[in-house]
Amino acid sequence: MSRDPDTLLTVRNLAVSFDTRQGLVAAVKGVDLTVRRGEVVCLVGESGSGKSVTGFSLMGLVDPPGRVTADELWFDGRDLMRASDREKDALRGKDISMVFQEPMTALNPGRTVGSQIAEVIRIHERTGREQAWNRAVDLLQRVGIREPAQRAKAYPHELSGGMRQRVMIAIACALTPKLIIADEPTTALDVTVQAQVLELLFALQAETGAAVLFITHDLGVVAEIADRVVVMQAGRVVEEGGVRQIFEQPRQAYTQALLAAVPDVDAPRDRARRLSRQPVLSAGGTP
Ligand SMILES: Nc1ncnc2c1ncn2[C@@H]1O[C@H](COP(=O)(O)OP(=O)(O)O)[C@@H](O)[C@H]1O
Ligand SMILES: [Mg+2]
Repeated sequence: MSRDPDTLLTVRNLAVSFDTRQGLVAAVKGVDLTVRRGEVVCLVGESGSGKSVTGFSLMGLVDPPGRVTADELWFDGRDLMRASDREKDALRGKDISMVFQEPMTALNPGRTVGSQIAEVIRIHERTGREQAWNRAVDLLQRVGIREPAQRAKAYPHELSGGMRQRVMIAIACALTPKLIIADEPTTALDVTVQAQVLELLFALQAETGAAVLFITHDLGVVAEIADRVVVMQAGRVVEEGGVRQIFEQPRQAYTQALLAAVPDVDAPRDRARRLSRQPVLSAGGTP
């Protein structure tokens, strides 16, 4: 299974716990997860169910005293349980990237957005300073930011929330990742901007063929974008299936309750039909 060429990510028995003053908090308790190449898997569940911690642990972003264990962790045909820290660092940020819920906290407030994009490129590729900067400007244009050469010199606080999230998406897509982990990437944005940022993310996804692990509590969004849905509750996966199956025949009462909490969820639509497959417009509708 792990060596199936269509399978991009396989995790078996992932567990994450935190040593706190109140004692050991088991945030993730034996999660199995598979993501196929190019697939959009939505990780859903109520607040505190362990979605973000699952995403962070895959990105290697759980720091001690947090503890991450797994029986198996395969990515792109490689056994990451046997990979060195260096190999994993080379992968993370390049082949696996992440878009965070709060772009303001994920970006460095003291550095221009252009230099932050360029830095990610330079960490992973032998690229000259000027070349990396030019690529950063190109990326800003690709994510729909007008006057990208100008905007590249802006600091995060000088940009709107929507533009900051576009910058995060530029960073996440800079090195054509095979897997993008997006943790509630539109939750912090105005409603009008949310749809634009989603469109952008999935236009880029269609363009590059990246798989997306999309973390959300918004079942309305899930209906629009998911191929498959994984439902978490209290650190465990309680149900998973194709998006139609989850919406039309949820087996668990918990999943039914999540669905019932969202009024007027449309029936899942074919993502290919729903979201444009056209290349991203260079400067359209910058929020
Ligand atoms: N650094 C941490 N230290 C202690 N507990 C944590 C830490 N990060 C997350 N948790 C706990 O892990 C559980 C899962 O959190 P999280 O993955 O953020 O939930 P979700 O993203 O599904 O809302 C929660 O109970 C949370 O309080
Ligand atoms: Mg979360």
